[in-house]
Amino acid sequence: MTKVKPLFRYAGGKAKLLKKYAPFFAGLRPEYCVDYFGGSGTMSLWFHQLYPDAKLYLNEKDPALYNVFTCLKDDYDNFCNAMYFIEEHISENFVGFASKKALYYMIRQQYNAFDEIGIVKDEELDDFSHLIDQALIDEYYELTEEEKNELYWADPCKFLDFQEDAIYKHACYLFLRKMGFSGTNERNRHGEYSSAAGIYSPTQSCYHPEVLADFKAMLDYAELHNQDYRDLDIHLPRTLHYFDPPYVNTGKNLFVNRFDWEQTEALCEYIQRVSEHSTVFMSHYDHPRLKKLMKGLHWYTFPGIGGMHNKRKGESVREILFYKVHPSIAG
Ligand SMILES: C[S@@+](CC[C@H](N)C(=O)[O-])C[C@H]1O[C@@H](n2cnc3c(N)ncnc32)[C@H](O)[C@@H]1O
Repeated sequence: MTKVKPLFRYAGGKAKLLKKYAPFFAGLRPEYCVDYFGGSGTMSLWFHQLYPDAKLYLNEKDPALYNVFTCLKDDYDNFCNAMYFIEEHISENFVGFASKKALYYMIRQQYNAFDEIGIVKDEELDDFSHLIDQALIDEYYELTEEEKNELYWADPCKFLDFQEDAIYKHACYLFLRKMGFSGTNERNRHGEYSSAAGIYSPTQSCYHPEVLADFKAMLDYAELHNQDYRDLDIHLPRTLHYFDPPYVNTGKNLFVNRFDWEQTEALCEYIQRVSEHSTVFMSHYDHPRLKKLMKGLHWYTFPGIGGMHNKRKGESVREILFYKVHPSIAG
């Protein structure tokens, strides 16, 4: 019960910490779990494994990621088709590191060209082949690496005939988070997705049906939210409230909504209030200021595992888990 397959590998994700967390979460009996800073949704996936009957509230402030979750929940088959399409019809034609990288930047550019559109509910929408110009792809495939680069940079949008197809757009976003650098959500000043490619293998695939199926199974127990954590306002008995905010001082562009100390203090006060009547957990990195702010709660610290928070200014950074279990859900 300490392994889940995340939807995408994420620097801020908690998949690698579950073994450390397990003793604190095991044996609890919550009826509701609230994941205030959902990110990749990994903790919600784990809660579903630990507490299969609990209702989940999965919140994520990034609307693009929220749209991926919503689409997976409400339009599962079409979303899978779109991912399969990207995998089979597009990725297959871009063989090798350089081509895969070029494909990533091409899809990124096209993704950013989409206008903000709502989710379309179109039961018929299961064929995405109209989005690709196969003749161009074939032509591209015949070229040398140098020629491919030249062609790509001349007009990166040339290969896909972009249409306002919301499901395809959300699938592209999952592709980008899966293939982007550490799964992060970097944005430029225009709000465009700008994470660099993070392809680690020339055969890396973006479509994993079993991962999508597990995520969908969790989503069937979840209510999705796209709000600031303070606006969730969930007051239910026997609830586990989990907070995994952007850590203070994380790189400027890594998370769109990074937290400074003022916001972190406000969050700690919020958690302190919730802890008076309910069970709370908060993940963070170990810092004396946080221990003061979280006075009255228990904590457990351990060395950071993987990710990019391990080393800051040459010092190794420890993780901390703050917690206070309410008797109503204690095992
Ligand atoms: C550290 S990540 C969470 C990682 C997650 N636990 C996982 O395992 O993937 C923090 C997330 O909080 C979101 N976020 C940032 N500011 C927020 C806010 N004010 N309210 C809710 N979510 C926010 C970010 O978009 C980011 O996905």
